[in-house]
Amino acid sequence: MRFKPFLTNLPSNTSIKHKTSSFSLTQTPPFFMAQTVTQSANLSNNIASEEDDNLCANPIKNLGLKNEKDGILEVGSPRLSPNPSGESRIERAWAHWKKLGEPKLIVAPMVDNSELPFRLLCRKYGATAAYTPMLHSRIFTESEKYRLEEFTTCKEDRPLFVQFCANDPDTLLEAAQRVAPYCDYVDINLGCPQRIARRGNYGAFLMNNLPLVKSLVEKLAMNLDTPVSCKIRVFPDLQDTLDYAKMVEDAGCSLLAVHGRTRDEKDGKKIRANWNAIRAVKNALRIPVLANGNVRHMDDVQSCLEETGADGVLSAESLLENPALFAGFCSSEWVSSSSDRNDGKIDQATLLEEYLKLCEEYPVPWRMIRAHVHKMLGEWFRIHPHVREDFNAQTKITFEYLYNMINRLRDLGVEKPLYRKETSLDKTS
Ligand SMILES: Cc1cc2nc3c(=O)[nH]c(=O)nc-3n(C[C@H](O)[C@H](O)[C@H](O)COP(=O)(O)O)c2cc1C
Repeated sequence: MRFKPFLTNLPSNTSIKHKTSSFSLTQTPPFFMAQTVTQSANLSNNIASEEDDNLCANPIKNLGLKNEKDGILEVGSPRLSPNPSGESRIERAWAHWKKLGEPKLIVAPMVDNSELPFRLLCRKYGATAAYTPMLHSRIFTESEKYRLEEFTTCKEDRPLFVQFCANDPDTLLEAAQRVAPYCDYVDINLGCPQRIARRGNYGAFLMNNLPLVKSLVEKLAMNLDTPVSCKIRVFPDLQDTLDYAKMVEDAGCSLLAVHGRTRDEKDGKKIRANWNAIRAVKNALRIPVLANGNVRHMDDVQSCLEETGADGVLSAESLLENPALFAGFCSSEWVSSSSDRNDGKIDQATLLEEYLKLCEEYPVPWRMIRAHVHKMLGEWFRIHPHVREDFNAQTKITFEYLYNMINRLRDLGVEKPLYRKETSLDKTS
């Protein structure tokens, strides 16, 4: 495991009201983070440098914030209110979901990619809720530096799911208690299929140990006031999936997100998600169910909601390329007739500029910015690969370099507008 030091930072206005108290986050630079835990992002063409783990801007001045502990429930402290069982628990799950406004358009959890500035950008363009990247529960409990670096939020960042991977119920609870005041669900990642999850025995590899999954969910549901949600993958066999989902619900889960691919179906671009399996889960459960997989534009949102009956959808890969997806924007490949071609007056470079401005306000490590640059400008780079090569060759990047690079692409005449397409969801909302 490789550890690297860098300064941490938290957004301005981090004073957050929760229930009876007002909580504040603070920042204490410098600290270390575990590189192997966050998985290096999808940077096939990137040159990762020491600089990439540095924050992209100086921490914002301390706004007189209090110690982090002010926002933390003590481990082992009594619950604020007991989690009811049976029917009332289901009613409570729905009441909570309704109180949040029944968000339908949700930014999926993405390591190194669904960080605060990206979530805020997606929210500006229609996302009605968002997940944090997966956080490692053990490291989150052990390292204040990791906590402050990897979990940043602000008052506009709601409704929010904070996701953990875990294989120990006590550790998970301890981590969950620290974030509970700042989020609307504490989520358990039961879907990560990567090798790192196999080695760490978490994510989709817990599908081999369902009693452990049950104890993780129960531990949170019994001891945490904030509802617990889970994100699962499907089993190859439908009945196994249904038994699994039911078990998770019975253990106290208040919301279930179902990624309609199996643990072995890793390539989301090549393998279609199984919406039939998601529909079967939705029909079998009584709690809110979210559908994940194959949501590339708003027509997919509409079809997915209709075909699965799910209460909302998650999108991941497609949002990385087009963070304005949930506002109805799509690239030319998804607009068929010329009547659909309403130039939305924005393109991916506009969105990237907006993202960079958010990063200046809410600093993140450069590696996250690099990943977003590649995703948002991927098509632009394909037209002018020398611009990408120049970008990759930079061991140290700056905002000035990035804004200039965008201008350079524009000067080269790249035109890739995003189109605003009206969907039946527009008409109904
Ligand atoms: C870059 C990246 C990082 C991801 N990290 C996570 C994660 O931290 N937790 C998680 O549950 N899923 C993670 N996923 C999976 C997505 O949340 C989602 O389930 C998957 O990509 C399928 O959705 P899609 O078809 O819209 O891409 C990640 C996906 C991508 C592309």
